Amino acid sequence: MNTILILDFGSQTTQLIGRRIRDLGVYTEIIPGDAELTKEILNSNVKGIVLSGSPESVYGDGVAPDKKIYDCGLPLLGICYGLQRMTYDLGGKVEPLPKMEYGRIEVKIKKVKENELSKKFLKGFRTNGVCDSFTAWMSHGDTLTKLAPGFIEAGISGTNYPAVLIHEEKPWFGLQFHPEVTHCEGGDDIIGAFVFGVCGCDASWNMELYIEELNQSLKARAGDNPVLLLISGGVDSTVAGAALLKTLKADQVHLMYMDTGLMRKNETEIVRASLQKLGAKNLHIIMCEQEFLSALKGKEEPEEKRRIIGDLFITIQEREVARLGLPDNYILAQGTLYTDLIESGKGIGKKAHVIKSHHNVASPLVDAKRKAGKIIEPLDKLYKDEVRKLGRYLGVDESIVGRHPFPGPGLAVRILGEITKDKCDILREADAIFIEELKSRKGSTGKSLYDEIWQAFAILLPIRSVGVAGDVRKYGWVLALRAITSSDGMTADVYPFETRDLLEISTRITNSVKEIGRVTYDISSKPPATIEWE
Ligand code: XMP
Repeated sequence: MNTILILDFGSQTTQLIGRRIRDLGVYTEIIPGDAELTKEILNSNVKGIVLSGSPESVYGDGVAPDKKIYDCGLPLLGICYGLQRMTYDLGGKVEPLPKMEYGRIEVKIKKVKENELSKKFLKGFRTNGVCDSFTAWMSHGDTLTKLAPGFIEAGISGTNYPAVLIHEEKPWFGLQFHPEVTHCEGGDDIIGAFVFGVCGCDASWNMELYIEELNQSLKARAGDNPVLLLISGGVDSTVAGAALLKTLKADQVHLMYMDTGLMRKNETEIVRASLQKLGAKNLHIIMCEQEFLSALKGKEEPEEKRRIIGDLFITIQEREVARLGLPDNYILAQGTLYTDLIESGKGIGKKAHVIKSHHNVASPLVDAKRKAGKIIEPLDKLYKDEVRKLGRYLGVDESIVGRHPFPGPGLAVRILGEITKDKCDILREADAIFIEELKSRKGSTGKSLYDEIWQAFAILLPIRSVGVAGDVRKYGWVLALRAITSSDGMTADVYPFETRDLLEISTRITNSVKEIGRVTYDISSKPPATIEWE
């Protein structure tokens, strides 16, 4: 399978480079910027290398790539810091700009002497074969003050700094701007010109191929051993389950799911039905609401609640796995995604910042199995939307594949303060109405509000307020609604509802859930707020 390797020097947009190239149908792998370029890494599938941006500078803390990169003969594309790095390493000069170039900036393409390859690259910048100018997106404080030998300036920024570089002989290219960012006009064409024109990749990365390869690798890893997958009911673990059921024998696959009592309305039934439809034979549903609610009794502090839940998950998981009586050589499967590994600092892109720790990467059971080499992660090469694509390909219900994310600790982080069964029931009911309304209402794009929104849910506040119901005084709970748009949950904007939608949803909730007296809408973006309330 044709692969483009991406050297990660720590830019926030490295992931985006990977996404863009995969969207063009070519497989990508991200490795640390200073990784040793061994024969295994530079295997015959690798057709080109992208050097990413970085928050550092070449004369500061920015790391250097393995020098073999300049002898390996593969096409190179340096983006921002990647270009500066190539320039610096190859005998050019990089210096600070008097003023940082940031945001949308015009780039003009010049007429220069081209060879066969640079012609293919520069084709990505042209509309109807005419040299053009376009709006790019930049974020850099350094510039090239002397090009490295052999490089030609093929484009300049509106502020007269080198913006597009080609090499007169080698398949080396550089961009001072970020073609991976959506604000860059024609960014996909530029990336495509490198990937297809220069590197000669074909667009063969699709879910059929993924399943075919997974089939072989999972069979080789698991053999006839039992495989256990812990299912949360979310998209990732359900699709991982579907992938196991598709590639291994159904008898061999054990799926374990815990109903903590902190789940959404009818969650367990939905999960059971969807896994059975996918052919699950060994489905172990553990009902442990009582254990969770007793452990959480009287606890109000968010971090303490999270810790109790995390610990209990592990205790029950170990107890139930032991109870299953699987042989020691059983394999543990996880729905870990490519981005999960990178975010938790365990993946190949160790330069990317560690943003949050995921419980599925860090339990003692998982660590022990990982040490013993008995973990399989069938989705570990996929981004979230590729997981959805795979799920659809494998026949997972749309109601699961298109689902909003749901946090591991469940309703516990959406019931502020102490958790009781009554409060869980009230929140479950209100949340279900909110979600049902979002699914049945259309947004401005013609999609349902639910599909336009990245994540939506209700939060039960630990306060009550006075109202009237009929002619009677009511002292009901206050409910908050949250709906956000986001691309990855790292930042979020508030979803701009039509007022009418909010009013009607609020009325239905207060009419249907008698314990709720008042509904508010959370209008905080992230940052400064987080998506969840606790
Ligand atoms: P925050 O609240 O950190 O949420 O802005 C970002 C995204 O992560 C989800 N989230 C969690 N997911 N375990 C999870 O599996 C957790 O402890 C957890 N906390 C937050 C949240 O729902 C949102 O999608």
